[in-house]
Formats: sequence, structure tokens, C-alpha cells
Amino acid sequence: MAAVRIEEVVGDFVSLRKQGQDFVGICPFHDDKNPSMHVSPRLGIYKCFVCDAAGNPVKFLMEHEKMSYPEAIEYLAKKYGIPLEYERSESDEERQQRTLRESLLIVNEFAQKYFVDQLRNTEEGKLMGMAYLKERGFMDATIDKFGLGYCPDGWDNFTKAALEKGYKEEYLIELGLTGKSQSGKLYDIYRGRVIFPIHNDAGKVIGFGGRILKKDGKDPRKYVNSRENTIYHKSDTLYGIYFAKNAIHKQQNVYLVEGYTDVISMHESGVENVVASSGTSLTQGQIRMITKRTQNITVLYDGDMAGIKASMRGIDMLLEQGLKIRVCLLPDGEDPDSFAKKHRDSELQDYLAAESKDFLLFKADILSKEAGNDPIKRASMVNEILKSISCVKDNIERAFYVKECAKLFDLSENDLNLNLRRFVWEKTKEQGRAALQQQQAQQNAGGFSGQPTAETVEVPDVIDTKKHSDLAQQTDLLFEAEKDLVLLMLSYGNFLIYEAGDEESSGVRIDQYICNEMQKEDIRLHYKLLQEIFDKYVDWASYIGNQDQIIRNFTLADDPQISEFVIRNIPVEEPKFSDRWKDKYDIHTHTTRNNLRILQNQVQNILLTLKLRILENDATVIQKVLESEELAEDDMVLALQQLNSINQMKKEISKRLNRVVSR
Ligand code: CTP
Ligand code: MN
Repeated sequence: MAAVRIEEVVGDFVSLRKQGQDFVGICPFHDDKNPSMHVSPRLGIYKCFVCDAAGNPVKFLMEHEKMSYPEAIEYLAKKYGIPLEYERSESDEERQQRTLRESLLIVNEFAQKYFVDQLRNTEEGKLMGMAYLKERGFMDATIDKFGLGYCPDGWDNFTKAALEKGYKEEYLIELGLTGKSQSGKLYDIYRGRVIFPIHNDAGKVIGFGGRILKKDGKDPRKYVNSRENTIYHKSDTLYGIYFAKNAIHKQQNVYLVEGYTDVISMHESGVENVVASSGTSLTQGQIRMITKRTQNITVLYDGDMAGIKASMRGIDMLLEQGLKIRVCLLPDGEDPDSFAKKHRDSELQDYLAAESKDFLLFKADILSKEAGNDPIKRASMVNEILKSISCVKDNIERAFYVKECAKLFDLSENDLNLNLRRFVWEKTKEQGRAALQQQQAQQNAGGFSGQPTAETVEVPDVIDTKKHSDLAQQTDLLFEAEKDLVLLMLSYGNFLIYEAGDEESSGVRIDQYICNEMQKEDIRLHYKLLQEIFDKYVDWASYIGNQDQIIRNFTLADDPQISEFVIRNIPVEEPKFSDRWKDKYDIHTHTTRNNLRILQNQVQNILLTLKLRILENDATVIQKVLESEELAEDDMVLALQQLNSINQMKKEISKRLNRVVSR
């Protein structure tokens, strides 16, 4: 884990921008419009400030790529060239889940190699498959890069070869590579087709598209595609994403095309930021894959008007995601594949640059022409366009569109704005309702994360209170106080403080000071998790000099409760003297000496608050015991005395904290 860099791992999947010491990017775990995901190389964690997603590199891979824990470790080991040794045997369930996914990926890998081998090294492959690809003008290097292959035109050549190698029939069928006839005979689904492997964004083959060579009427399907299974979900797949990732990141734009061959041909012409939706309109999952890398998308259309109008509807959805959409219309009858083939690389690139138009203006233009002079038609078109404009999030952008639209349809901006406001209003209302529902659903699901439940509370070692943990009520405040103390140790443990009036002395580390205080007063933390973190900290601080390293150790702790807690609660910013302290203590933070005093005050404040909370806790317990149990007279007197002295101490501490006792 010491070799792993969080920004490189997250950066494999999310486009990150440097911001100060940290990186920021669009959070892939919620519908993010602005970069809310912070990645801290210093702490080795990511944290989203909107949806609360947070974790270490392993967690990221598990959450984002749906990897199992071992898969994530393997991914990292591979990425950083570290050999792995296996010791622990997994639980049956773990192994089953992992092996199903892994087995399917391994079978696909075999199939892909088999198809490539067939294409390149067999007579039939060369004569049929390779000849077809060459005829279409694909270069050898491209065929190699995209891993194109060929499946021979027999009944079951591939299936036999796979079974011979020991790959299980059920996996072949699950993957849609092999079919089973009614008489129980196995056959190759892709027989006689050229093969386009489909990669996920980590580069693993998750499925195949197989194109028929000639239309001879026997099989009407131009393409056969993988069936849905654990590793292949069509709706979460963008063809070409693995090969486009870097270019999308660099260009901050992605071209959206329809088919496999369009992607490949554009690569050959030097345009690599291109993905295909594979013949359907974009799904939310696919949009998410794009928005986490760039906000700009250019849709390529062939010049066929019917097709354009059909796909326009889907595009409002993209606008709502905050994407900036442009369209590029190809000459009539051309698709990106044919256009790229007919023109030089620079011509394609120039064409894309020159002909890409803002989607809304493009749509307005087309509709305006189509409506002609029919006033009713024109009115309904204007409203349709206004609906689209209402999807645009940015006010200024919206105003700009209204202006253009007014020009196009020769209407006043005021009239347009009137209707636009209505659409925006309706939309906001809808969204508000949806958000409310979601919130309620979350509340019903219960609880918020990061805070232990009351069951984990133990009452401290004071005469009666220990046995009556069920009676304690100050749990939230006590928890907060203990949490503050632990976080203070983590963030500032290595800072020095000085005994009052002795600021010339060498000082004492805050963590050591707190430790001493805790021992002196025999304080243990009531929340087990926090005490564990405290103990671990003391252990690590005794031999790890670098504070950040200690925190990184916590973020990587074996116990997920511990790593979760630290990741969630540690501030991402570098520790510095907080502005809040300044407000709290009304001291100006101009000089080091004042800063020191503030930190010192903060340490005292946190320690005193903790003591106060503990006393409050004890007092509550004793009161409850007095109310609910019949004590012997002697015990009653003792208990009252105890309560009395607790209240006395509470008062004293409150005075020192400069607070008023509330009860
Ligand atoms: N598609 C499919 N099944 C079909 C037809 C199309 O899955 N029967 C998907 C494929 O992903 C295909 C895309 O829709 O790549 C676009 O279809 P089309 O333009 O017909 O195919 P191309 O890939 O452009 O193939 P070609 O250039 O060989 O016609
Ligand atoms: Mn085509």
C-alpha cells in the first residue's frame, strides 16, 4: 500500500484536476455536476463533499469497479508491479462470487485469443475474416489494437476447443458464446462472423459483437452481441471507452458515434476520443461514464434527417446532466466510418472542428426550417425548444439560447421568457418532489453513518454507574467529545505545546500530553472504536515520525470500522490553526505565539469537555438508579454523596470552560 498513490488509482477512472495540494474531479458516485470529489495524496484518500463517498484506494476500486477485496488488491499489485503471495483461503461464498466473475473474464480472454488466432493463422480466417476487414480498409495495427478476430463457420469449432481446454460449458453458455440446440447439441453462436471484443474501462474483455460477413439470407442479424450476465451489462457499456479514456481526458471532449466500425475508423484517422453507444440511445449508466471524464460531448450524425429527429429526444436527457452538447452533421449518406475512409486524417479532423454546432441552436434551426410558415407548427416547435432550454442549468447560458431562439423564430425574448419560466418552474417542482421522496426513503432506511449505536457504550468505572449502561443518555455529546479528542491526536498530535508561562522550554507533544492526562485521571474512552483508535495511535506514534503516515495507516487499517471512521472524519485540509478557534477564543492569530496559545487552549478545551461529558454521563446514571431501584439506606447515602461530588466537579470544569451549567 505504500507504493499505491490514490490519485493514480482514482485517476484511472475519473478525470482529476490539481487544486493546491489535492486533486478534484466529478464524483462518480452521485449525479455530480461540479467537481465535488477531493483526492488527497497526503492522506491517501478520496472524499466527496456532496454524497459522502469516501475511502482508500481499495475501497474506491470495490465501490467504483465493483471489485471484490482480493480483486482490488490484485489490481493494485498489477498496477504497481508487486508480486502477490496468497496465504489465506477465502470463504466459500467469497470464492464463488469472485470465481464466477473471474472465470467469465478468463473464458472471454481465451475466446478473444482464439478468435484472433483464427483470424491470423488459419486459412479460413485469412480468406474470410481478414479479407473482409482489409476490404473495409482496416489497418493491421488497428485490427491488432482492438483485438478483432474471426470465428470459423463450422458448427462448434470454438466450443469444442474451449471445452477441450477445460472451460466449463455453463460459462460458455452464460457468456453467450455457445448455444444449445433443443436436441442438446452445443454450437458456436458467433460462427462465420468477424469478432469485435468489447472492453470495459479497465481493458478487460467483457463481451463480443460479431458481424456477419455477407448477407446471404440465412441469418438476418447483422450483429450478434453478448447476452447480459454478471460481467456484461449493455446499458453500462460504451464501446471503445478503454481506448478513448486518455484522449477524452486530454481533449476534454468525447465524440459519440453509433457503431463499432465508426469507432475503429475514427481511431485510424487519428481521432481517439470516440465511443459508441452501440446502436441505442444513451442510458444513464453510459452518461455517467462520460460525465466523470468530461462535460463535453459531440454527437456525430449522418445526414439522414429522420434519424436525427429520432435521436434528438434522447439528447434532452444529456442536457439535464449538465453536459455541453454539440452535434456534427456528416454529409448525407455518410457515417463516421465511411467519411473517415474517404478523407484524409486532417480533413476529418478539420471537418469535425468546423461543423460541430451547439446542439440547441442546431435543433432550433432544423425545427424552424421544418415548420415553415405554419404558425401553429411554429408555435409548438418553439415550445419544444424552450423545454429543451429549460434543461440547461446555467442561467446565462439559458439567456443566450433564448436570444438566439428569438432571432431564429422572429419572436420577442420577453414572450419566450414567459413560457421558459413556466417550464423551468415545472421542472424544479418535479425535482423537488423527487428529492423529497429520496430523502424520506433514506430516513426510513434509518440511521446515519459513522456514529456507533448506543449499544457500544460502556459506562465508566465509577461505583454504581458501570452496571447501568442502559441508563446513560449523554451518548451523543459524550461521543462527540471523545471523537474530538481522538481527531485532535490524529491531526495535531505531533505539534508541541508549552506549560503555561514556560514557553521558552522545549515543550511537550500534544499526543504525549493528552496521554499523560488520560492516565493521570484514569480516563478510558467509552466508545470501544475510539479507544481502539486511541491505542493504535499511541502505538504507532511511538515509532512512526511522520504524522501523515500515521493517518495513512489508519485509512488502510484492516478493521473497516477504523478506516471508515478516520477517512470520514479526518479533515482533508492540511492541519493549520483553524479560523474557528479565532472566533471561539477571540484571539488574533497573527503571531506564532498566539497560534500556540490557541492550540493550547483547544487542547485544554477538548480535554475539559470530555471530562465534563463523562461526569454528566455518570450523573445521569446515578440519578436513574436512584429513581428506579430500591437501594439500602447506606447505599443511598453513598450514591447521593457521589452525585453531589460529581455535580461539584461539573461546576468547576464548567467554570474553567467558561460555560454556564445548564442544570
Ligand atoms: N447493432 C447491433 N445489432 C444489429 C445492428 C446494429 O448490435 N443488428 C449495433 C452495433 O453495435 C453496431 C451499431 O449498432 O455497431 C451501429 O449499427 P450499424 O451502423 O448498422 O453498424 P456498423 O457498426 O456501422 O457496421 P457496418 O459499418 O459494417 O454497417
Ligand atoms: Mn456503419
